[in-house]
Amino acid sequence: MKLNINGEVKEVDDAYADGVLVWAIRDGLGMMGTRYGCGAGICGSCTVHVDGVATRSCVTPVAAVVDTEITTLEGLVAEDGSLHPVQQAFLDEQVPQCAWCMSGQMMTAAAFLEQNNTPTPDEIIDAMKNNYCRCGCYHRIKSAVAVAADTMATEKAGGIA
Ligand code: FES
Ligand code: FES
Repeated sequence: MKLNINGEVKEVDDAYADGVLVWAIRDGLGMMGTRYGCGAGICGSCTVHVDGVATRSCVTPVAAVVDTEITTLEGLVAEDGSLHPVQQAFLDEQVPQCAWCMSGQMMTAAAFLEQNNTPTPDEIIDAMKNNYCRCGCYHRIKSAVAVAADTMATEKAGGIA
């Protein structure tokens, strides 16, 4: 079975074909950036992008994504190794505590900011409200998303972030 992940066609053992995407990514491909939390589509920690849309990989059948472009946290990193503005902002704002939710937080934020890089504070809260953080890092998450939005808006305008 082949999956298009982070711009590469990767061979995944057929044993994962009838399961959900998170296990094809983590166990089938050994890519540990995608986390597993509730396993029920609730917490958001397993979020990846499927054709650019934030998607919960714990409840997404592999069969539903064979002809899509999947992006994981690893795939947000640019070819030259530079971090995505969301990743950089989460580092700079020292957002994580245990970090278990953080992959999903960043993937959700990155997909959101692709659609809206001039969000209001309320729009950020609304976009991130279904990604849970057991450590309660919500204020820093909100700050980091705002910082990333500024960076992305500046980059899009052709300026230096
Ligand atoms: S592990 Fe997928 S939503 Fe919680
Ligand atoms: S940083 Fe621990 S769950 Fe969010």
